[in-house]
Amino acid sequence: MAATPSGRQVGDPAIPNRVPAVFPAGWRFPAGAHATFAPHAIVASNNRLAAEVGAEVMKQGGNAVDAAVATGFALAVTFPEAGNLGGGGYMVIRMADGRTAALDYRETAPLAATRDMYVGANGKLTGESVIGPKASGVPGAVAGMIEAHRKYGVLPISRVLAPALRLASEGFLVDSTLFRSLSGENYRIGGFTGKSVFFPNGVPLPIGSRLVQPQLARTIRLITDSGSTVFYRGSIADSIAAEMQRSGGLITKEDLARYRPIWRRPIHSSYRGYSLISMPPSSSGGTTVTELLNILEAYGRPSPFGTAERIHALASASQRAFIDRNSKLGDPGFVKIPLSTLTSKAYAKAIAKTISHDHADPTTRLLSNVREGNETTHYSVVDRFGNAVATTTTLNDLYGSGVFVSGAGFFLNDEMDDFTASPGIPNMFGLIQGAANSIAPGKRMLSAMSPTIVLDPKGNLLLVTGARGGPRIISATSQIILDVIDHRMSLADAMSAPRIHHQSLPDSIRVETGGVEPAVLARLREMGHHVYELSGIASAASIMRVRGGYDAMDDPRSHGGAVGF
Ligand code: DON
Repeated sequence: MAATPSGRQVGDPAIPNRVPAVFPAGWRFPAGAHATFAPHAIVASNNRLAAEVGAEVMKQGGNAVDAAVATGFALAVTFPEAGNLGGGGYMVIRMADGRTAALDYRETAPLAATRDMYVGANGKLTGESVIGPKASGVPGAVAGMIEAHRKYGVLPISRVLAPALRLASEGFLVDSTLFRSLSGENYRIGGFTGKSVFFPNGVPLPIGSRLVQPQLARTIRLITDSGSTVFYRGSIADSIAAEMQRSGGLITKEDLARYRPIWRRPIHSSYRGYSLISMPPSSSGGTTVTELLNILEAYGRPSPFGTAERIHALASASQRAFIDRNSKLGDPGFVKIPLSTLTSKAYAKAIAKTISHDHADPTTRLLSNVREGNETTHYSVVDRFGNAVATTTTLNDLYGSGVFVSGAGFFLNDEMDDFTASPGIPNMFGLIQGAANSIAPGKRMLSAMSPTIVLDPKGNLLLVTGARGGPRIISATSQIILDVIDHRMSLADAMSAPRIHHQSLPDSIRVETGGVEPAVLARLREMGHHVYELSGIASAASIMRVRGGYDAMDDPRSHGGAVGF
């Protein structure tokens, strides 16, 4: 099972002319690190145990979709901060025969949800969109994963779910990552019944203890036997509805019975001769990554990595793409989205013309022009046939709303906070969004999740990527693609490279501490940018095709791994 380190430096991958990266002196990750190499098939995930499950299923003859589903269920067991049955996500698929697909299994607002449900009598937000039973959307994860398997899987579902079932019923050892993750979250989990599972003696499960989850094992066994019906119309639906009634939440059995995952047409776009396959709305991810890259392509030749010129171009393109994201995107079943315009080269060209080469434009000014006219997890899989799957799934916050479905053994999301709770008031990610993303019964809340597959100019698979980190997902995903295509970095360098983020409002560039040379910071401020340092921008998990196989890597900002054979 263990994959061997590639042992190869830059300059060897299938894509010729990889160039050794040079990072700022104060940057915390080294350039020239190694990814994990596997000749046939590989999974990269924020959680190593789950990546092992994906690889195991492919060794048994499963394809990349089987492996993605197996990894997804395993994450719900071994990575409860983000892996989930009570959340939702997106999956972008490219089969080796060229077929592509995008599955939307995002949560929906319960039927009893109303536009202003989180606005208190004083006009301020109540905070109920973040913790507690009213924060949860109707979960889509189980329906989505079972549907992906139904359409593309080759192994029986019992084989695909067996490893997750084993991990839940026999348990696994709590490591320092899980211990640390739980330690900060008593305030969220402690008020609900998950407390007895994760804080058995009032303290987080100790490192080295075995976490056995019999309730969750029972849930996975039921899904193995009866598919998603048991979750949406059977005994698990009963447990969810009962939990909601007990604690004052909104999700009913009718909400669950109505839930459907949706196959959508993936966004197909290009960047300097490479092709991208990405997620359309209800996620903003593919649209915004596409718009951002199109603007940069129109802006002109890329300046070298890490220069003020490059960061200015990147930030200004991102600022403009996020203005569109925050004002125009929402659930396409509820709002009309100008998708073909937003993803067109002509539109990007017009926007690129508004970017000056030497000064920043305040978002407020760009907004007036418009009027005229954390926690998640990503995993990437490639199988021995060349099928590729990029999946991002989330409960939104770590451990979602904190609400734990008694008897069924899993957390419910707090995805309702991704809606515009009140125009002009930022959500937990500081996003200020518009009416297109307002709350309505049955509607999907806008996401930033950006599972993306990139093909080289010959049409061969190059990159499978995506990230966690709220709106910073869009930045990390775009920049990994740009680092590979424009700066010719190896996968390890692209994953380790410092990132920046601009989401239009707040009107500033966020940079990772030590990731930008002091002289470059000074120059950006001279250009009129507000620049702030952050400890980390998102966390990705990616695979890149190289000569003889694949390099894969979890983000050095995370604690997962890549496993292949
Ligand atoms: O769908 C979204 O955009 C957010 N709910 C993602 C949240 C997230 O990535 C949190 N992780 N750090």
